[in-house]
Amino acid sequence: MKGPIPQDKIEEVKNRADIVSVISEYVTLKKAGKNFLGLCPFHKEKTASFTVNSDKQIFYCFGCGEGGNVISFMMKAANLTFPEAVRALAEKTGVVIPRREMNREQKAALTKMEQIRKLNEKAAAFFVRDLFLETGSGARSYLRDRGIGDEAVRVFRIGYAPEGWRHLRDLLEREKIPLGLAEQAGLIVQKTGDAPGGYDRFRQRLIFPIEDAGGQVIAFGGRLIGSGEPKYLNSPESPLYVKGRNLYGLSKTKEEIRRSGCAILVEGYFDLISLWNAGIKNVVATLGTALTREQVRLIRRYTLQVVASFDPDEAGRKALVRCLELLLSENVEGKVLMLPEGYDPDDYVRTFGKESFLDRVNDALPMVDYYIDHFIGGNQSLQKDRDTLTAAIALLSRIEDALQRNLFVKRISETLGVDQDLLKREINLMLATGMKPAGEAIRGQNERKIDPVELFLVQLLIEHPEKIPRMVTENVMDYMEDPDLKTMGRMLVERYDIKEFSVPDATALIEGLENERIRTQLLRSLVESPPLDHSVADRVFDDTVHKVKRKWYRQQHGIIRRKLVAAQRSGDQTLCHSLILEKDKLLREERALQSGQGLNE
Ligand code: UTP
Ligand code: MN
Repeated sequence: MKGPIPQDKIEEVKNRADIVSVISEYVTLKKAGKNFLGLCPFHKEKTASFTVNSDKQIFYCFGCGEGGNVISFMMKAANLTFPEAVRALAEKTGVVIPRREMNREQKAALTKMEQIRKLNEKAAAFFVRDLFLETGSGARSYLRDRGIGDEAVRVFRIGYAPEGWRHLRDLLEREKIPLGLAEQAGLIVQKTGDAPGGYDRFRQRLIFPIEDAGGQVIAFGGRLIGSGEPKYLNSPESPLYVKGRNLYGLSKTKEEIRRSGCAILVEGYFDLISLWNAGIKNVVATLGTALTREQVRLIRRYTLQVVASFDPDEAGRKALVRCLELLLSENVEGKVLMLPEGYDPDDYVRTFGKESFLDRVNDALPMVDYYIDHFIGGNQSLQKDRDTLTAAIALLSRIEDALQRNLFVKRISETLGVDQDLLKREINLMLATGMKPAGEAIRGQNERKIDPVELFLVQLLIEHPEKIPRMVTENVMDYMEDPDLKTMGRMLVERYDIKEFSVPDATALIEGLENERIRTQLLRSLVESPPLDHSVADRVFDDTVHKVKRKWYRQQHGIIRRKLVAAQRSGDQTLCHSLILEKDKLLREERALQSGQGLNE
């Protein structure tokens, strides 16, 4: 009987398993100063940037940003779930994990996903079987007509859902599988008012099981064989399947992506399968939705180079800009694969052949060049120039890496004939005011700029937990702005053990951070920074707190200043007056704070 693993056992496993020796089974590590270095197992690299810190028992890769503790390493390296990783390490280190019965609710929650997983596997097998039965002959000849060979059909587990409303349903009923579960898995549709039990979602469709990177079926896509709408039907989201988290085909192509050093990014099921079928196996598909940051990070585990194909229409242009922005900010090199009008990768490879397609991949232009040539350059009208500039500034302001950004700034300024410094000022203005050009999507939490001072403060608290009580006495949290870092600070305060002067298992707190960028940044700085001497730590802490507070005051002043300008413009005297009073009060507080702490600049 598997059950949740007791926390103290997880701790014991973590304490006993030495991260250096565990990772050494997967990566050749060399001692380099206080750290160990090796070639990252999560992306392809020639120079070692995968760092393991033995003191802190964490790892971080400067190339791809993967990082964590010994358990997360096992999860990623061996493709395990959290409990599986803990159990594997327990076995290695001789920790005995008692088998405990779960209560009913726990059992239900924990097994739900497992049940859906099993059901999906079963359904996939049904669909495969049906493809090869008499009813599947139409589907088989459809595949043949589209040039898909037997091996591709087998590897991608292509199946067929026959005509009729309760084919799968009957099969499931015969196997005594609860239909409610099938409904949660998205295989059965139940509408209120209909006969109980529901009907099959997929009917008369070719079925493509969608697998996660580990090869488990998490959803299905179905293409109509006959005519009708919609052409493709996908499973709805479920506890297992969240759109934008996975890439179609990855489980079957990741090794080839790693080996070849490049991933070809396409849109559709048939694009991927058709390329694979032609012998081009380093491909992943987004399935027609906009690329997400999570997907880029998924790819980045295997390669730092992406060749993406786009449609030459307006939607394709938008997709390209989005892709470029994501790749740049994730430090992945992007190239643009342009196919002749009217051809998708599937059409192209079947018409012109594998070699011709590979030639196009080899000739693909760097995405930055493509963007500059096709989006920035050209003799456009003045208004269009302005729009282009605004869009370019928005794009530039989202490139975190200063070197990359400056290179890009230089080229755009040359192309548009705009002064570089002016461009940089505009970018800084946009960053400072958080201004977003119209029509731009609001930046998600993961795209927000991380304040280095607040990040450092949290890092200090983790490394020198004895400073945590002062966070409370000095109200530091009130001055922090980043909601995630603030939450982290609050959790550290909450978990602080007064007797031990420490926070038990602070790395688990980091691991639990939802904001992936903050998580990796924290791990990265923890790996990078040498531990501070206690006497120095005191001063550094004071200094950091001071900086956080000053930043807050600066921001408040800025806000009041902007309000004041607006009030003066509109001639609102009362508002002006109260704002000036507010400003004075703020100044007084700030001065009191500084003299009270005896801090100088
Ligand atoms: P396309 O319309 O480009 O189709 O959609 P395709 O992949 O070339 O399909 P074939 O060659 O006509 O069979 C690209 C992708 O967008 C998603 C699918 O994932 C598809 O592969 N899509 C498309 C849907 O989810 N629903 C649709 O109705 C259409
Ligand atoms: Mn197609």
